[in-house]
Amino acid sequence: MSHGPSASGGALVAAAPHGTSHHVPHVPVFTGDTRAAIETIMARYPTKQAVLLPALWMLQDARGWVSEGGLAEVAQLLELTPAYVKGVVSFYTMYHQHPVGRHFIQVCTTTPCNVCGAEDVVKALLEQTQCSDLGLMSPDGRFTVVEVECLGACGFATPIMINNAFVESVTPDSVPRILSELT
Ligand code: FES
Repeated sequence: MSHGPSASGGALVAAAPHGTSHHVPHVPVFTGDTRAAIETIMARYPTKQAVLLPALWMLQDARGWVSEGGLAEVAQLLELTPAYVKGVVSFYTMYHQHPVGRHFIQVCTTTPCNVCGAEDVVKALLEQTQCSDLGLMSPDGRFTVVEVECLGACGFATPIMINNAFVESVTPDSVPRILSELT
């Protein structure tokens, strides 16, 4: 079933795509309005540690992924060790541990969707985004495609998620139209 690195059932593992360095200097995220926003959330909880998941989401929203520098910023902000934060980031597959395309496409390839042709949808997406494999970024930086487990829309095979948007009943034929609507 798998074509390579996958978000299914564990941490996404992939090489740095297309020469993208993982060691770009980190520009702090939690300043200005973002700092005010996280402090508002912190005020709702008894400990700073309780804010770790939303803080990581805010970081990923701002930078597209969770770099070592971003991880260290969150650790310092919440008075946690970087190792603890890293453990949480690597546990949840929805946090990206390497740069991903602007459009992060998740395709359900669990059995019910698989028997309805999900593998062909994956192939069409990889070909037409020019991603060389699952989990890798396309040369233009626009796309990353991964396989995931059940997206909860088994009656609408094949469902995909493009960032936070859900698209049902995707077929290889509908892939060009779907991609053409993305900037
Ligand atoms: S098996 Fe594909 S959405 Fe459930």
